Amino acid sequence: MEYKFRKFQYNKISEDESLEKGKEFYEVMKKRRSIRNFSPEKFDIGLIELAIKTAGTAPSGANKQPWRFVIVESPVVKKEIRIAAEKEEKESYERRMPQSWLDDLAPLGTDWHKEFLEIAPYLIVVFKIDFVKSDNELKKHYYVNESVGLATGMLLAALQNMGLSTLTHTPSPMNFLQKILDRPSNEKPYLLIPVGYPAEDAEVPDITKKQLPEIMLKI
Ligand SMILES: Cc1cc2nc3c(=O)[nH]c(=O)nc-3n(C[C@H](O)[C@H](O)[C@H](O)COP(=O)(O)O)c2cc1C
Repeated sequence: MEYKFRKFQYNKISEDESLEKGKEFYEVMKKRRSIRNFSPEKFDIGLIELAIKTAGTAPSGANKQPWRFVIVESPVVKKEIRIAAEKEEKESYERRMPQSWLDDLAPLGTDWHKEFLEIAPYLIVVFKIDFVKSDNELKKHYYVNESVGLATGMLLAALQNMGLSTLTHTPSPMNFLQKILDRPSNEKPYLLIPVGYPAEDAEVPDITKKQLPEIMLKI
């Protein structure tokens, strides 16, 4: 299969405008925090769809777009997910996680209780697709983790830009999501993202981010 090529449409902006846009975006993004205490307040599902549309513009290995985003709004399904997630998380916190991991999590104040899975108005479950079957042949996707990670980053950024809060949640192991959401065996759960407005009394740990010189080198 060959692609046709077309002229790339590009509108150059001035350096000043780049700087202004960059600063504006940084101001929005630096306010993002993982929220674990959501308001039940609902909003139009179209906002979530728009963010997923944005995520879908992400680059991916050989443009295979190896992702699926499932929006869960049904209270019944959210409850089912909470029960299954808490079962796994209880086991993880009480038996599976090594002490060093528990020590790292302790300052964040997390435990196996996941009320937010029922309270947040929407859950987005991100699946990665390692391969597809076509003409009875398995077609492998490339750089699947990298591709889905990039798309998910864009999803979080889009939601943040729309004033919505998220949590990047990984109730491990996550196979139960494949069953509850009835996804085929080639779709593997990647992340579970509750989305909504923070509760009025929501608190976040007072953590800091590494400063630029710690994360950047110029050569
Ligand atoms: C891949 C990944 C998995 C995570 N899993 C969980 C999780 O299962 N539960 C949770 O409460 N937070 C989880 N987090 C959130 C991190 O704890 C959080 O991003 C980190 O503490 C920094 O806080 P911030 O997001 O507010 O900047 C996860 C984050 C990432 C990137």
